[in-house]
Amino acid sequence: MFRLGVTNISDLRRQLSTNGRAAVDIALFLEVSSAVADDEEAQALQSAVLSRMRFRNGTYKRTSPNRFDGFDQRLIKVANEAFPQGAIQILDVGVSDGSTSAALVRSFKKQAGRKVELLGIDRYMNMEIRRHKKRPIQFAFDACGDLVQVRCGNFVFNCHALESWIRFPVNRFLGNLLIPRWRRVFADGNGPDFNRNNVNLFGRLASSMKESGAMDLQEGDLFHPPPGPFQLVRAMNVLNPSYFPSESLAKAVIALRSSLVDDGLLAVGSNENAGSPVEGAIYRRTETGFERVEQADRPCRIDSIILDQFCKVGSD
Ligand SMILES: C[S@@+](CC[C@H](N)C(=O)[O-])C[C@H]1O[C@@H](n2cnc3c(N)ncnc32)[C@H](O)[C@@H]1O
Repeated sequence: MFRLGVTNISDLRRQLSTNGRAAVDIALFLEVSSAVADDEEAQALQSAVLSRMRFRNGTYKRTSPNRFDGFDQRLIKVANEAFPQGAIQILDVGVSDGSTSAALVRSFKKQAGRKVELLGIDRYMNMEIRRHKKRPIQFAFDACGDLVQVRCGNFVFNCHALESWIRFPVNRFLGNLLIPRWRRVFADGNGPDFNRNNVNLFGRLASSMKESGAMDLQEGDLFHPPPGPFQLVRAMNVLNPSYFPSESLAKAVIALRSSLVDDGLLAVGSNENAGSPVEGAIYRRTETGFERVEQADRPCRIDSIILDQFCKVGSD
């Protein structure tokens, strides 16, 4: 009938070990940073905090460091052969907590002995948590000011992914009924009764690599990517037909192409858990569009958008 959210680190550990799917208080992302010493465990717990988070445009933040190691190995081989000189400039888009970007930088060094300069961007990288000083209520907003999560006591509501009516009708009912009321009564947590905290959603792995200058992470939109130009643009688990309609995917591909050098590589893929088969491919920028140079375990879900429809859409 109902389920409580995950609001402390011991419950988060349990959720991780049992593959639970309850909503997790985003404030635990920060708490894990300071309270968990072991890097691997901290990273896994932080990824678990993000796994149920959904944002306004319908995308989730689910990720994990070793999600597509096999595909990365093939990508490194192709990129290394295509650009044998100097540091490789990479733009990684939709990076979530940056853990797969960190893994790519490390693998490049290990597999090819190459230095890479990687910029990872994500549309939802910074959040603000507003917690009431006396009452058990908390709001979490993204950087665009959209309410993403509300916590009241031990209930946690991910506003864009409320629990199902069938399995957890109480959560759904409370979410639908009370969130608008709390927003009104507490003025979205804007008053002096609330403490405000900014959270950068970089995981442990990515944070330490960012601090050491091994890579950079910034909030950014793949539909308006930085100009670069980059030799490699990677978009994993974000250009999914379940997230965006075909017209938007085509626009994204056009935008990402504009960030590539001539003959630059675009890697696109989607998969499930770490190590699961990747539906994806590596493409090379040509004068008019893209050509496929390598396919992953299974065909890329948006292969036809990248190859065939590219020229038809125009570049408005
Ligand atoms: C499922 S996660 C994928 C994370 C990582 N690339 C991976 O494969 O594990 C999708 C990410 O795309 C981000 N995202 C969604 N829309 C975006 C946009 N328009 N521009 C950049 N990032 C976006 C989300 O915030 C989320 O972190």
